[in-house]
Amino acid sequence: MQDKKFWDDVYNKGLTPWTDKERDHAFAQQIIQDTNVDSSMTVLDYGCGDGTICEYLLNRGIRVDFSEISEIPVNRLKNKYGSKSKVFLASEPKEIPGKYDLIICSCVLHHIEKEKWPDFLNQFNKLLNSKGLLWLAGFDKDDKNTENNQGKFIATSDTCQFISEIVPLVESCGFEIISNCSRDMPNGGLNTYFTTRFICLRKTK
Ligand SMILES: C[S@@+](CC[C@H](N)C(=O)[O-])C[C@H]1O[C@@H](n2cnc3c(N)ncnc32)[C@H](O)[C@@H]1O
Repeated sequence: MQDKKFWDDVYNKGLTPWTDKERDHAFAQQIIQDTNVDSSMTVLDYGCGDGTICEYLLNRGIRVDFSEISEIPVNRLKNKYGSKSKVFLASEPKEIPGKYDLIICSCVLHHIEKEKWPDFLNQFNKLLNSKGLLWLAGFDKDDKNTENNQGKFIATSDTCQFISEIVPLVESCGFEIISNCSRDMPNGGLNTYFTTRFICLRKTK
């Protein structure tokens, strides 16, 4: 797993091409479509980066808290949204107090070893209210972004995990799948489109 130091370096060097207006807007639209999120719901953006996807939800009057492994985005988010949102420094969901109706975990799990996924899913489950939703985005083996046009793997690193491999794990961690799709999404920072997989889970127990 890439540790806190890795992510601190990423943020210190400003290497965050995923933060892109067109891409963030498209992701927010996908979240709204998959979850029907509205202002009656409490939302946590886990591994939120600069929190730019959920700005679209905040602008709709939805209560969103943020969580990050790196204090660099945490400090920025506290300055920007600290008056209306809680901002947590955490490397695992269990470090976060409270309960949520929807947890967004966008492009985080593919950076975490698969062996840790059942533990993460169980921790997310405990953070959710009854019938709460966990919305995941990530990359996949069969999706186009795993190769660029020179046939090279471009999805972040050789240790990138494939998000659809979470499907067989979800039931034993107390979830059911309510949607599972992939779409080409803009990623302006890298001047390309990434095929991205979106999986939405509902807590069953
Ligand atoms: C590719 S970025 C995605 C950021 C944001 N979710 C988005 O989609 O725009 C991955 C983020 O996950 C965070 N992260 C990585 N491992 C984490 C962990 N164990 N707990 C919380 N955040 C983590 C990183 O600091 C980074 O901001």
